[in-house]
Amino acid sequence: MLLHIPQVLTAEQVRHCRQLLDNAAWLDGRITAGSQSAKVKNNEQLPNDEPAAEAVRAIILAALEKNELFFSAALPKRIFPPLFNRYGEGMSFGMHVDNAMRRMTLTGEWVRSDLSATLFFSEPEEYDGGELVIEDTYGLHEVKLAAGDMVLYPSSSLHRVEPITRGQRMASFMWMQSMIRDQGERGLLFELDTHIRQLRLEQGDNATAIGLTGVYHNLLRKWGEI
Ligand code: NI
Repeated sequence: MLLHIPQVLTAEQVRHCRQLLDNAAWLDGRITAGSQSAKVKNNEQLPNDEPAAEAVRAIILAALEKNELFFSAALPKRIFPPLFNRYGEGMSFGMHVDNAMRRMTLTGEWVRSDLSATLFFSEPEEYDGGELVIEDTYGLHEVKLAAGDMVLYPSSSLHRVEPITRGQRMASFMWMQSMIRDQGERGLLFELDTHIRQLRLEQGDNATAIGLTGVYHNLLRKWGEI
């Protein structure tokens, strides 16, 4: 499942983050690449301890914590601290798959990447090319979203970033481990939750809505790991 989550950050937050990121010290992006993806990666990244990265990371994580659509779809257990990349003209990131396991430097904890996300900081009009192309069982999907919007997709998907032919593309990307490891089960829970929300909106908390909420939580209890 590929999900577009609109306005994770407000326009004001995007402006503030852009200011911080524009003035930061960017480095060659191969610092976080695995050996296979290093060969196809040509972009710039912010070092982990860059103050701008730390400040923007905190803003993103706080916004995600309040985002109901994100929570419902990802059921996040652990989020690998968001990273930042920038592509100028001629830069791209060829087809690759993200590493399955990553260790967080601060805590030493491992994160299994069940889901990957890209949060855009550049508006689509600011650059040509630079589409995030994601391959799934239904074919190829091209993603290019408004600044402040995010796409969430299974980390098992092959994906690439098309070459930039004009302008600059800046984004944050992150991986997360879900409480629900299995993609199919996670998708079912998201659908069920979406319909329960709609039912409650239309009819209030009637007996059916309460019953289905019980089913949702019992499935979460059955399939989830914390
Ligand atoms: Ni990737």
